[in-house]
Amino acid sequence: MNKINILDKEFAVSIPFEHIQSTVKRMAVKLSGDYQNKKPLFLCVLNGAFMFAADLLKSYTGQCEISFIKLASYAGTKTTGSVRTLIGLEEDIKGRDVIILEDIVDSGITISHLIEDLKSYEPASIKIAALLLKPAAVQKDVRPDYVGLEIPNDFIVGYGLDYNGFGRNLKDIYKITE
Ligand code: IMP
Ligand code: MG
Repeated sequence: MNKINILDKEFAVSIPFEHIQSTVKRMAVKLSGDYQNKKPLFLCVLNGAFMFAADLLKSYTGQCEISFIKLASYAGTKTTGSVRTLIGLEEDIKGRDVIILEDIVDSGITISHLIEDLKSYEPASIKIAALLLKPAAVQKDVRPDYVGLEIPNDFIVGYGLDYNGFGRNLKDIYKITE
């Protein structure tokens, strides 16, 4: 089925599973090359990036660590403009090469907030790998260093992304039909 209902909204497939998988694989290959002689710390931003992080790291070939932080900025289909830290950082990242794994960069508010926060712990480097980027929505001066796909400014769900908590388990990415 191409169309599904989640709560009060209708969605249609926008990025099929196979396309997501080849995109994530390509990003993993690039990162594996770029970090060949390093031991990066991947920082997965929960909840949305959990599937992306799992698939990406299965194809990452070098030595690395993975940690998780939990941030929230969305309510329904819109950003609230403020970022709340629900679970913070446990690791000492001083001197480490950190790669932030994000499902999507939309307004950029979440990622710019996170980067400012991480900088105070003096990592050797911070890069952003985002599966998706909505270029039309970006308000902050942040560009992910690694982008899977650029997408239009539509609300989407699936592959980790949710609508009020639902839809994260879908293996394809769906966009709202209105
Ligand atoms: P930003 O702070 O506006 O860049 O939004 C980043 C976070 O909001 C992402 O990490 C997602 O978790 C969530 N988000 C942004 N756009 C969407 C969307 O279209 N669907 C579901 N969640 C989204
Ligand atoms: Mg997210």
